[in-house]
Amino acid sequence: MTVTENVSLKSFNTFGIEARARYFVRVQTTAELHDVLANPVYRPLPKLVLGGGSNVLFINDFFDGLVIKIDIKGITVLEETQQSVRLEVGAGEVWHDLVVHTIEKGYSGLENLSLIPGTVGAAPMQNIGAYGVEIKETFDSLEALHVESGESRRFTNAECRFGYRESVFKHELKGQYIITSVRFNLSKIPVFHTSYGAIQDTLREMGIGELSVKAISEAVCHIRRSKLPDPAQIGNAGSFFKNPEIPKAQFEALKAQYPGIPGYVTSPDFVKVPAGWLIEQCGWKGKVVGATGVHKMQALVLVNYGDAKGQEIKALAEEVQRSVQERFGIRLTPEVNFL
Ligand code: EPU
Repeated sequence: MTVTENVSLKSFNTFGIEARARYFVRVQTTAELHDVLANPVYRPLPKLVLGGGSNVLFINDFFDGLVIKIDIKGITVLEETQQSVRLEVGAGEVWHDLVVHTIEKGYSGLENLSLIPGTVGAAPMQNIGAYGVEIKETFDSLEALHVESGESRRFTNAECRFGYRESVFKHELKGQYIITSVRFNLSKIPVFHTSYGAIQDTLREMGIGELSVKAISEAVCHIRRSKLPDPAQIGNAGSFFKNPEIPKAQFEALKAQYPGIPGYVTSPDFVKVPAGWLIEQCGWKGKVVGATGVHKMQALVLVNYGDAKGQEIKALAEEVQRSVQERFGIRLTPEVNFL
């Protein structure tokens, strides 16, 4: 384990924003993480933990602290029956590599979450979700290191307090724990989630008659590749904003004015509205502003066309928020973390 100084973070964030870190270290084991946290040189400094860097926007050029890149690997079977399997996965495994592994083994549960950028350790932080499935449905528990005391603690599913793109690690315990491994309960008897309309349409287009976890994964990859820009080509962090949940009465009032407004009832009193639709209605889809822009296929994704600064993306995000607020009276909340 080597700590390096004045390191560029450009290749460690999918937005491809240039920012430098005073100190940078990769850790491959929990013991290494423990040691670096206990080191008196780094102990008093601010820490920034990076997984795949797929949900961050660097708005400052310099991070005056220690950036820790979690590279803890490994996929282990802890328990197996004829129906199910419990896996323990290192926080540094690439999320999609885990999904591919489970599909090859015939385990069901993660296929709808194919191709989500990022690492396994970052996934529970925001309860990643796509195409009708969230990680909380197959999540068993996780192990995390307490930054202050250096002690490991296991968190159950309930203790993580998962919500829509939310967990306890984004709120009460923010910055206090570093996730080192995650356990999943997967089924060996497939349970298919095809309620999301686009999956059914895509399976039909692809001529897939018989459902399988592999077929669903292929359909999801197909949809994502057709709508979402590949960060290796165009810098982005997936959805920039969360889909807002608004009171039913407000939704009904908007529907009277905009009959085409989509909405999904999430509770007796609330309706979730796709932020992509709101942003598109405000005329932003495909707009280019300097080196930044709103993606032409999915208005919820803000992009870096080359050498944008984090501040420029932030300024664009604020413009988008302002127009949606003015036109619809809805405040969009970023899903991406500003650092
Ligand atoms: N829409 C538009 N214009 C757009 C984009 C979307 O009108 O430019 C409308 C359409 O009505 C469409 C609806 O929004 O039917 C939903 O669009 P989509 O299926 O693309 O999903 P989303 O709500 O925009 C969410 C997640 C994605 C996830 C997809 C699929 C959030 C913030 N985003 O997007 O997650 O892949 O559903 O389940 O919940 C991510 O978090 O980074 C991410 C990509």
